Amino acid sequence: MSNFNFPVKKQTYAIALKNTKDAFVAGDTETGLDYLEKSISLCKELIAHCSVEQWQRELSIELKKLETIKSNFLEKGINPFAPRAAQERQTGGGQGEKSGEKNPVYFSKESPDVTLADIAGLKEVKKQILLNVITPLKDPDLYYKYKEEAGCQILMYGPPGCGKSFVAEAIAGELKCAYAIVNASDILDKYVGEAPKKIVQIFEEAKSYDNCLIFFDELEVLFASRESDDSTHTKDVLTTFLTCLSGFNSKKSKTNVRVVIGATNRPWALDSALLRGKRFDTHLYVGLPDEEARRFMVKRAFKNSGELLENTDLTVDELVGMFDGYSGADISSMVEKMKSLALERALTKRAQGEQGLEPVTKADAKKVFDGYRNSITPESLCAYEAFRRGEI
Ligand SMILES: Nc1ncnc2c1ncn2[C@@H]1O[C@H](COP(=O)(O)OP(=O)(O)OP(=O)(O)O)[C@@H](O)[C@H]1O
Ligand SMILES: [Mg+2]
Repeated sequence: MSNFNFPVKKQTYAIALKNTKDAFVAGDTETGLDYLEKSISLCKELIAHCSVEQWQRELSIELKKLETIKSNFLEKGINPFAPRAAQERQTGGGQGEKSGEKNPVYFSKESPDVTLADIAGLKEVKKQILLNVITPLKDPDLYYKYKEEAGCQILMYGPPGCGKSFVAEAIAGELKCAYAIVNASDILDKYVGEAPKKIVQIFEEAKSYDNCLIFFDELEVLFASRESDDSTHTKDVLTTFLTCLSGFNSKKSKTNVRVVIGATNRPWALDSALLRGKRFDTHLYVGLPDEEARRFMVKRAFKNSGELLENTDLTVDELVGMFDGYSGADISSMVEKMKSLALERALTKRAQGEQGLEPVTKADAKKVFDGYRNSITPESLCAYEAFRRGEI
């Protein structure tokens, strides 16, 4: 069984990325290149051990970006994090889309087709969303008797794969609104001075929509506590973000709902300024699915293939019990693996001229569990509990 600890590796990767940028910004390109190579190899490792397709895709995009940065540096001598003016001098007037670029578009106007009904469990999360996001639109007369403005700034935290990004998509789906998903690398993989500019652009673009949602993922990479990172660059990013956030909810009309959601796996690593006052004032723990939520997920995973749990020694109840302690992402990925084992058997039988389906069996489930490492440990859950109690 592999000893690969995905969250720890991801953190090491984030640190390597940051060291890469810091070294290049400081002009120490030799060290920058070392860290860049380390980031590339960590990214490859993460891709190889990633069981969730969506993350694999995101990491592959990042890997491509890093490889482009490396080849631009090695072949053209471009320091990827030199200030813009210096960069343009290096390339003789700018390169590709970065020079003379128009403001990039961050928002997608096509809302996702998931809604709150697709979320398993997470009752408190759904309650807060109904209160702050759905009610102002559905019943503005009632809502504005109690509140001055609609919208909210929510911090979602919790272990990986438990639905933070999924919840953000569901809110955009409910609101049928424009939404932007902003990953740390969208902002930090830029020239010095560009990160604050990007943040301003995102909020400016958001204001052009009546209803909108901005989802900032990997907040701890963007806004690490100033004790752990005291660079001016990091401070600028944080200050700009807080300024944009404070003017964002102002009421334009009763039909506006503006939502900013931040997500992190490591809330204790965030700069405390983010959590004070009217900033991310609602903190929601997005934790492991309870029994009811696991049942919902297992049923959903077999929604179009219910026959695979008929005439077999494995029941939904047993699967729900076995998945105790696993995230939603793990559950869907493990069920897929179980189905693949059953499919292999069906194909073998077919090759021998036998028709019919092969159901998923207890032996399939056992095999998948034996070969799967649950990345969410009891110790990591204790850390969230300690954060919730204000101890860390
Ligand atoms: N509570 C849930 N209800 C329904 N589906 C879920 C839930 N939790 C996770 N999933 C499924 O797992 C997938 C991965 O979850 P998601 O990406 O939202 O996790 P995350 O908390 O954002 O993880 P990370 O911290 O790594 O970004 C989702 O796309 C969804 O299919
Ligand atoms: Mg996520």
